[in-house]
Amino acid sequence: MKIISIINEKGGTGKTTSTREITGVLKKNKKCLLIDCDYQANLTGSFGIEFDKTIYNVMIGENINNCILEIEKNVDIIPGIINSRDLERDLEWESEKETILKNKLEELEKKYDYILIDCRPDMRLLEKNALVCSDVVLTPIEPHNYSLDGFDILEELLKTINPILKNDIKHIGFFSRVAIGNAPKMVIENSDNVYENILDNYIRHSVKLQECSLVGKFIVDYAPRTNGALDYKNLVKELQNKNFI
Ligand SMILES: Nc1ncnc2c1ncn2[C@@H]1O[C@H](COP(=O)(O)OP(=O)(O)O)[C@@H](O)[C@H]1O
Ligand SMILES: [Mg+2]
Repeated sequence: MKIISIINEKGGTGKTTSTREITGVLKKNKKCLLIDCDYQANLTGSFGIEFDKTIYNVMIGENINNCILEIEKNVDIIPGIINSRDLERDLEWESEKETILKNKLEELEKKYDYILIDCRPDMRLLEKNALVCSDVVLTPIEPHNYSLDGFDILEELLKTINPILKNDIKHIGFFSRVAIGNAPKMVIENSDNVYENILDNYIRHSVKLQECSLVGKFIVDYAPRTNGALDYKNLVKELQNKNFI
């Protein structure tokens, strides 16, 4: 079982979309669990789910199996909560609260091939929990001026808190929402010489990706021949070929 957190401290870079669409590719032959750690619960919303158990219930000690909902064959989800303050407040006096999720996910070791955690652009309790249990941290980056700064900051953070992370944790970036034009191309080309941990494949801007989250479908099913579907397939292929996931 590999645990993958999708993190960037910047909003709107394609975290939620990538969490969903990478799962869309993996589900063909792997069993996946999605965890929605964003308090806006966009990932949960994109599947049109209503379920009274969420990651909140997992964190306050309920049986994790009761908080998992099946979306379709090979895809389950632990939905997200809207109210952030409750969780932070309710766990205020809990000790070792950064490892709650890690301990809970150990129970699922035999059940899933991949767990993908969609995080908020903010380093708080749920994100810390996600980092601590991750084998891989994936960071979608929009290719424009300064956008790599966020990637560097996260890289530094991972080094700083390394003692509490898994030994062989990997931080991998990829460009997403890549628009047509010279500027994005230049950023991507420049990064090529500097970063070993940014993938060669990237995700182009695709309106179909926006559409499919509105109808609750994965791009590989909704519009399998579009750039969006092709790009996520190639991205997953590269991640697997390089043994990152
Ligand atoms: N490759 C893409 N092409 C076009 N629109 C995209 C792409 N990736 C994401 N989007 C859109 O951009 C917005 C922000 O994406 P989202 O995945 O929610 O970002 P984040 O989770 O990082 O805040 C959403 O409306 C989403 O549909
Ligand atoms: Mg999001």
